[in-house]
Amino acid sequence: MSEHESTYVPKTGFERWLDTRLPIIRFAADYATIPTPKNLNYWWTFGGILALCLVIQIVTGIVLVMHYTPNADLAFASVEHIMRDVRHGWMIRYIHSNGASMFFLAVYIHMLRGLYYGSYKAPREMIWILGVVLFLLMMATAFLGYVLPWGQMSFHGAVVITNLIGSIPIVGESITTWLWGGFAVDNPTLNRFFSLHYLLPFVIAGVVVLHLWALHAAGQNNPVGILIPQEQRSRDTVPFHPYYTVKDGFAIILFLMLFAVFVFFNPNALGHADNYIPANPLVTPAHIVPEWYLLPFYAMLRAVPDKFMGVLVMFGSIGLLFVLPWLDTSKVRSMRYRPAMRWFFFIFVLVAFMLGWCGAKSPDDQLIHGITTFRLFDGDLNSYLWLSRLLTLYYFSFFLIIMPWVGLRETPLPVPESISSPVLSGHGSVPTGAVADAEKKG
Ligand code: HEM
Repeated sequence: MSEHESTYVPKTGFERWLDTRLPIIRFAADYATIPTPKNLNYWWTFGGILALCLVIQIVTGIVLVMHYTPNADLAFASVEHIMRDVRHGWMIRYIHSNGASMFFLAVYIHMLRGLYYGSYKAPREMIWILGVVLFLLMMATAFLGYVLPWGQMSFHGAVVITNLIGSIPIVGESITTWLWGGFAVDNPTLNRFFSLHYLLPFVIAGVVVLHLWALHAAGQNNPVGILIPQEQRSRDTVPFHPYYTVKDGFAIILFLMLFAVFVFFNPNALGHADNYIPANPLVTPAHIVPEWYLLPFYAMLRAVPDKFMGVLVMFGSIGLLFVLPWLDTSKVRSMRYRPAMRWFFFIFVLVAFMLGWCGAKSPDDQLIHGITTFRLFDGDLNSYLWLSRLLTLYYFSFFLIIMPWVGLRETPLPVPESISSPVLSGHGSVPTGAVADAEKKG
C-alpha cells in the first residue's frame, strides 16, 4: 500500500555498505513485504503474468534479431532460416509469435478486471491512464512485428493500415509518404518498422515502471473495492511475500501451461496461412485480416462507410478509455455491489467478443444462411457490417450513456466497511477456527 515503513535490516557487512550507497536490497525487501489486501482473487494475478509476458517477448525477440535480416529481399528467407537451421529457432519464433497472443489475452483479462472492480476510479486514475498508454504501445508493437516476416499478410496488412493515415484530410498523404519512406510500402518501410518494433518494448518497460509507481502511490484496489481504513490495515492486509508471490507463481504456472499448448501442439492456430507466402505486391490476398487481438477494432473500422470516420471511430474506441474514470458516476467501485451495472458489463464482454467475430468475416460471408446483404434505404448492406454497426453502437453507449446514467440511477447493495468485517461478523464462509484466530490476533 502507499506509505509503508521499511523493516529491512542489513545482515552482512556488504549489505550495510551497499545500503548506505545504493539501497537496492532495501527497495526489493520493502517491495516484497508491502501490505497487500488479503482478499485479492486470481484476476489480480494477471499484472504479474503481463510483466512475465513482456520479459519473454524481449528475450525471445533479441535472440530472433540475431538471425533476422530486415531487408525486403531477405526478410522472409531469414525467418525460414530461423525456423529450419537455427538451433531451437522454431521454438524461439513460436514462443515470440504466440507470446504476442498470450500477452493480449492477459491484457484483456487485466483490463476487464479493472473495469469490473472499478480499479480506474479515484485515486487510481493515473494507473488506468498509464495502462491505456501501455495498451496502445502494445498494439503498435504487435502490428509492427507482424510486418517483419514480410509474408503476404504482413505486407498487405501494412498497406491497409498505413493507407488509413492517408484518409486524414490535408496532411494524410504527406504523413503516409513520410511513414513509408517512399511512395509505397517497401524496403524503407520494413527498415523503420523493424527499428520501431525493437524500440517500443523498452518504452513499454519504462511505462510499466510508471504504472507500478502509480499503483504503489494510490494503493491496490481489491474485489470489495473499498479503501482500507488505517486502523483496519493489520486485519485487512498481508505481506506480499509469501502470500502473493505463491499465488502469482501458481497462476503463472497455469498460464505457461496454456502457452505451451499453443507453442508445442498448435503453433500456427492463431496465425494466418497466407503469411507463409512471401510478400507479393502484385497479388492481393482474397481476405486481409489482422491478428485476432485486433479484430474488434478492425470491425469498428469497417463498420463505418467513410474511411476517415472509421479511423476516428476506431481510435475513439480506445481514446474513450482515457476519460473512463470521469464517465463513471457511481460512488461504488466494485460491480459486486452494482447489480444493474454488472449486467451491462457482461453484455459489454459479449459485444467485444462478437465484434472480434465480425472483424474476422469477409464482406461475402453470410450471417444468416442465404443472406449476405440486407436491403436498406441506401442500397444493400452486408449483414456482418450491419451487426458490427449495432455492436459498435453498444460499445460507445456503454461508456458514454450507460456508465454515467446507471451510476446515478442504480441503488447499490450495501458495501462492507472493511475487507474482513463480513467474514468476522459471521456472514462469510470461513471455518470458525480461522475467525477465532483472527480475533485473537486483533
Ligand atoms: C504491459 C502491460 C501491463 C503490465 C505489465 C501491467 C502490470 C500491472 C501489475 C503488475 C499490476 C499489479 C497487479 C495487478 O493488479 O494485477 C497492475 C495493476 C493495474 N493495471 Fe496494469 N499492466 C499492464 C497493462 C495495463 C492496461 C492496458 C491497463 C488498463 C487499461 C491496466 C490497468 C491496471 C490497473 C487499473 C491496475 C490497478 C489494479 C488494482 O489496483 O487493483 N494495466 N498492472
